[in-house]
Amino acid sequence: MLLNEIIAVVGLDHCLTDPDLRASYEVDWTGRYRGTSPAVVRPGSVEELAAVLALCHGAGQPVVVQGGNTGMVGGGVPLAKELVISVARLGNVQVVSDASVRAGAGTTLTRLQEAAASVGGKFGVDTAARDSATIGGMIATNAGGMNVVRFGPMGDQLLDAGIVLADGSYVPSLRQTRPDHPAFGLIDHLAGSEGILAVVAHADLVIGTDPPQVAVALIEVAAERLQALIGAVGDLSSVYAVELFGAPEVELAADGIGRSPPLSADWLALVECRSDEDPAGSLGEVVGDLPAVVATNQSVGEELWLFREALTEGVSRLGIPHKFDVRVPHDVLNDVRPRVEAAAPEGRVFVWGHAFSNRYGHPTANLHVNVIGTVDDEAVFDVIEDLGGSIAAEHGIGTAKRHRADRARGNLAQLRELKGRLDPQRILNPNVLLPGPS
Ligand code: MLT
Ligand code: ZN
Repeated sequence: MLLNEIIAVVGLDHCLTDPDLRASYEVDWTGRYRGTSPAVVRPGSVEELAAVLALCHGAGQPVVVQGGNTGMVGGGVPLAKELVISVARLGNVQVVSDASVRAGAGTTLTRLQEAAASVGGKFGVDTAARDSATIGGMIATNAGGMNVVRFGPMGDQLLDAGIVLADGSYVPSLRQTRPDHPAFGLIDHLAGSEGILAVVAHADLVIGTDPPQVAVALIEVAAERLQALIGAVGDLSSVYAVELFGAPEVELAADGIGRSPPLSADWLALVECRSDEDPAGSLGEVVGDLPAVVATNQSVGEELWLFREALTEGVSRLGIPHKFDVRVPHDVLNDVRPRVEAAAPEGRVFVWGHAFSNRYGHPTANLHVNVIGTVDDEAVFDVIEDLGGSIAAEHGIGTAKRHRADRARGNLAQLRELKGRLDPQRILNPNVLLPGPS
């Protein structure tokens, strides 16, 4: 009955019930989270999205919302037989000015970056999954990416959003809601809300500046000098990216891209600086006597970035990784690898990530700890919390970490209040983010 009504809205071709057609939507890309769904529904417009949600609301049918299915925490797959709503067809992009762009929820990051580049600008969030990741999901998780030290995470790019509430009502501009509207104030909580409060239909996003002069350095750093180096790099006004990895990771990446590792040490820092004036001099001063490969043009810089960007795929070639996306203070960076290795004696541990988890040299890092093989996830979570870190950063809580969401996120009371107000039937991503029964 419900599916027939949905088909009347989106058409037979966009309500997938055949198990073969549903299959790729029912498992996350790592293969770690798998479920089944009565159907995958792919609305082709905001109106269709709203109508589908109104029907699901009327029928009390829980849904999960999916974009590019690049999530890492099981937040976008139907683990409890929810209906999948794919926003992949909502991919319209419209450049509003040289400082802002309006993008449909299903717009890929690459498409958004092209739109920003078409007016000489830069979209401030970048990740290696750019060809698949879509902006709705990136807002939902508040993704940070590789330029987070310069631009901040998705929430910092969000000027406005059009959303559809659980009951199917469309709110074209959250910024313009009045105080008596149920979605008033939601704009401040949308980034990182993991699809539990509303479905993002489109967003107005900042286009940042893209200074022309670039310098990229891959730097060898012994453990005892790491904190000082990233502190100094983080203070550079031209800093654009500061990425960290170590010897096992650079070997893994080198293997994947068919090259030899250019350097190897306790830590490698890949630093990119951009400025109107050549940033190579100030970057060189910070590098000092540390061994480094420095690129002052785009193409050599891109070669160095290959070693960073090959990591996610590289680790997945070894097996289905246990993924831990964590935030830790800089002064414990050197403890993460040995402590996780001790907690996962039968696993192979890889550690990489962003030296800063936010803008302006914020003194916490966002590391991606990946373990191949057998490991008790709870033991790794314990290690991170024991080090004063948080077990969730830019990938979100999803279903994987919801039992620890209180400590990882804090302020769940406010989220619960918003959830109760906006989705009292709990049909939107009911098994995501908030702990407790669905
Ligand atoms: C990254 O920065 O590499 C991503 O967030 C993806 C990952 O952890 O695999
Ligand atoms: Zn990352």
